[in-house]
Amino acid sequence: MQLTTDQLEQFDREGYLFLPDVFTETESALLNREAQRVFAMDRKEVVREKDGKTARTAFAAQHYNEGFRRLGRHPRLLEPVKQILDGDVYMHQYKVNAKAAFNGDVWQWHQDYGTWSRDDLMPEARAMNIALFLEDVTEFNGALMFIPRSHKGGVIDAGHDVQTTSYPLWTIDDETITRLVDEGGIVSPKGRAGSVIMFHSNLVHGSPSNMSPYDRTIVYLSLCHVNNHIRQYKRPEWVAERDFTPLESLPDDCLLTMENAAAE
Ligand code: SIN
Ligand code: MN
Repeated sequence: MQLTTDQLEQFDREGYLFLPDVFTETESALLNREAQRVFAMDRKEVVREKDGKTARTAFAAQHYNEGFRRLGRHPRLLEPVKQILDGDVYMHQYKVNAKAAFNGDVWQWHQDYGTWSRDDLMPEARAMNIALFLEDVTEFNGALMFIPRSHKGGVIDAGHDVQTTSYPLWTIDDETITRLVDEGGIVSPKGRAGSVIMFHSNLVHGSPSNMSPYDRTIVYLSLCHVNNHIRQYKRPEWVAERDFTPLESLPDDCLLTMENAAAE
């Protein structure tokens, strides 16, 4: 999948791109089944909400689940990111976020590169997210919110919030968010399972809690240009990976061949 000149310009200007229906229903349903299996595992990589039970996020699932291993090398995700970052990429972080029905908690306003630079000493914002919806995302189940063009101002001051949720985060204060929203507004791309969002690592974003009866599972690949690898190993390697080998794409049907292999 190659991005058009218009799409590349939109990404540069607005900081994000929403691409509906990149994966089929069969592919997203297969991965969602794998996600539920992962959330049920008792592993250190699976972080729970404050209730201690509900899965919040599963890190590094590409290392212990075959479906997510394949997705981490999927050409429909890797190729457009390589195009934007202009070269080979490695996996800096991989997470499957649950945002479970009724119990999925907020992700406060933040920038991902803010964390990657402060905690991991990643030299530049030459890294980004590509996210795949495994379930429909609606106005009810905690859709992501982005502040368009907020990536243009570089890294913004942030405070380390270790209280609000079960997962510590460098978050941006209300005054700054008010100013950025005055300038750029808020967008909240919604769509069917199989849709994709790409966003700049300095784009300010967050998401509200999920009080609906609908789960909202989304997978995030955080990919970094191989020359821009992290310089500090303070966080566990399943949160900030240390293997900087360039990722090679698998065939486009790599998820479907997995399903066929399982059925044989
Ligand atoms: C994130 O920003 O890392 C996660 C946000 C979400 O899944 O809602
Ligand atoms: Mn984020």
